[in-house]
Parts: sequence; structure tokens; C-alpha cells
Amino acid sequence: LENLLAQGVEGRKILVRSDLNVPLKDGKVTDDGRIRASLPVLEKLAAAGARVIVTAHLGRPKGKPDPQYSLAPVAARMAELTSLAVAQAEDLTGESAKASAAELQNGQVLLLENVRFDPRETSKVDAERAELAGELAALTAGNGAFVNDAFGAVHRRHASVADIAEKLPAYQGDLVAAELEVLKTLTENPARPYTVVLGGSKVSDKIAVIENLIPRADTVIIGGGMVFTLAKAIMKYPIGKSLVEKDLLEDPSVTGLMALAQKHGTTLLFPTDIVMASGFAADADHEVRPVEDLENGTYGAEAMGLDIGPASAEAFAEEIRRSKTVFWNGPMGVFEMEAFSAGTRVVAQALAESEAFTVVGGGDSAAAVRALGFDESSFGHISTGGGASLEYLEGKSLPGIEALGA
Ligand code: 3PG
Repeated sequence: LENLLAQGVEGRKILVRSDLNVPLKDGKVTDDGRIRASLPVLEKLAAAGARVIVTAHLGRPKGKPDPQYSLAPVAARMAELTSLAVAQAEDLTGESAKASAAELQNGQVLLLENVRFDPRETSKVDAERAELAGELAALTAGNGAFVNDAFGAVHRRHASVADIAEKLPAYQGDLVAAELEVLKTLTENPARPYTVVLGGSKVSDKIAVIENLIPRADTVIIGGGMVFTLAKAIMKYPIGKSLVEKDLLEDPSVTGLMALAQKHGTTLLFPTDIVMASGFAADADHEVRPVEDLENGTYGAEAMGLDIGPASAEAFAEEIRRSKTVFWNGPMGVFEMEAFSAGTRVVAQALAESEAFTVVGGGDSAAAVRALGFDESSFGHISTGGGASLEYLEGKSLPGIEALGA
């Protein structure tokens, strides 16, 4: 970014890709971490006299306008968090965006509507993405530049993340630079023992990550909803009504995880006990069951696992306490419901108290840490990237970074 600022941006229209993909409830932003992390670059550019046009996605709309995915609540939250003048366009590259971009004054910010309302953003056809990138670039009218500050989205080969860098002089934003700097220390020379804690609900999202991190880490801890598919696939345990991805039960990359860990001398830690509930509800009755015997409790085969049990949480915390580097992605249970938040809380507490270099990655885990009332400064780094941080740690190349030629 300094290179761009050194050239002078006064009066120029600068297109910034930010990651403003935040959780919403009843039309309000429930965790504004990504918005706060995106503001410094916008403020820096505005202070230097740029006319800032921001493009971002929210959720996964199906390539057409859908009011529930409008960035309007984000614009409203932004306006509360900054003294910048933030206008909002009603579309992406249509009449509203063009007119608002043309009217933009030095130091003002224009937020375009959700870039994923346009099917070309995520298209697999290069020419379609290039066409949208061209339209976005055209909003900057001649003397523009592009800044990618959307660290959370750099793993996506999307028009506003990657292709746009072909259409405008492209620069790396400060947030992207800072995130890469931290993650580099994890891949290049992590202090050992190096523990990776993975949670969240979907094995399909995480299986490649688990496979790729097993050779790099000393210990991989697995919690969250994905435990049940693994318990059923690997250990053949009955899991009641717990979350399961049936098509993965015979998948060799799932059933072979233990062998892979053994081969690399990596400890793979699974929960030994689970909080089983009578159903998926904040006030559901619940009890702790051993992982090998989940169906023989009060709710029988109707029981649903919603959190790791206390013995598992303590064992995970113990492992975290003896580590020198810890990377955590994904909650241990349904932390949004008080009754099923203990596992996530114990893991977060162990990280917060640890002297180790701790990195919390991923929208959900970062939101969990804040929702559970932890002080962000007790962690080494809270990343704005979920999939992006994981793919970086896996050693994959990131299209949004590649496109910058960095
Ligand atoms: C994220 O939430 O990890 C990023 O904003 C990317 O979103 P996506 O997974 O929908 O591409």
C-alpha cells in the first residue's frame, strides 16, 4: 500500500476489495471484527484524498440480488465505527454504482452492493470473471488502482479478488500484509510443540486441511460437529442423531487419518466424551456420554452431540498448555447456545492463558472468542481469514495473492 500512497492518490478512484463477510442476525451485524479490521486501509486512503470504492461479498447468494445478503447492514455498522463518509450503491456495476462513483469526492467512501449478486464473480469461466473485473475497473475511470485487503477471501479465484488485478495496477493492503506476516511464522519455523486445534461442523471442508497439517504439526486436536462423522467412519461408533456426512463414511481420506498420523508420528486427539442433547435447541436436556457409548443414555438413539465433554475439553486444554505454538480454527460445539459453549470456552481459555504463540483463525472461532467475552489481546493473533488461513497453512498458493505478483 505504501507504494501506492507514495505515487499519490489524491482525487484518484481506488477500488478496494475488503472482506466484510460478517455474521448477521435480524438485519444486524453480530460480530464486526472483519469490518473493524478493514477500516484502517480505507481510512488511510481517504486521508490521502482518494475516492475509495469498496467491493465485498456477504454470504453465498446464488448469483442474483437477494435482500437477505445485502451489504446494507454492513454499511450501517461501518458508519457507526468510522467518521468516514460512507455511501452505499444499490447495485454492483449498474446505474447506481456508476452514478455514485462519478459523484464521489476526495476522502469519501462508496460501498458497492454484494459482489456475489453477479454470477460472473464466482464463475468458473475465465472470460466471464474477466468481464466483471473490467466493469469494476471501469468504475475507477481511467486513473484508478486496485488494493486487495480482503485477506479472508484471497483463497478464492473470483473476479473481484484475482481477475481484477489484470485490469488495474494492483497493490496489497495492510491487512493482507499483516496476516501473511503472522501466518508465515507458523509455516516457516513454528516453535515446538506445535498444536493445531480444528473444530467446526463439516468434515468435507476440513479433511484436506487435516491431511495436510498432520505432517506439519506435532499434535492435531479435533473437536466440533465433524467429530461424529469421524467417530462413525473411523471407530465405527454409533452416534445417534448427531451431525454426519454420510458420503464420507467410506472415504479413504477419512478412514485413513489414524494411519496417516501414525506414519508422521503426529498425535491425533479426539474427544473421549461428548455432551449429548435431546435435540437441537438452546434449552434441550443434555448429559455427558463417553464417545464410544453415545446412544445408551437417556435419549437413546435420538441423542444429538452438541459439544465436547468436560474430560475432552480438559485434555485438549492440557495439550494446549504444553505447546509453544497453537493454531485454532473452528468451535468445539454449538457455542452460540450457552449450554453447549463450555468446550469452546475451555479451549479458548487455555489459548488465552498460554504463553505460546497463539493464532485464532476463522470467522467462527474469532466470533466465538469475542462472543464468549475474551479479551482479543490475550491471543497472539486473531485472523480475519478462515479458509484463507487454512489454505495458507496447508502450503497452497492463494489466487488473490498470486494475482498481485507477490
Ligand atoms: C470467509 O468467510 O471465510 C470468507 O469471507 C470467504 O467466504 P466464502 O467461504 O463464502 O468464499
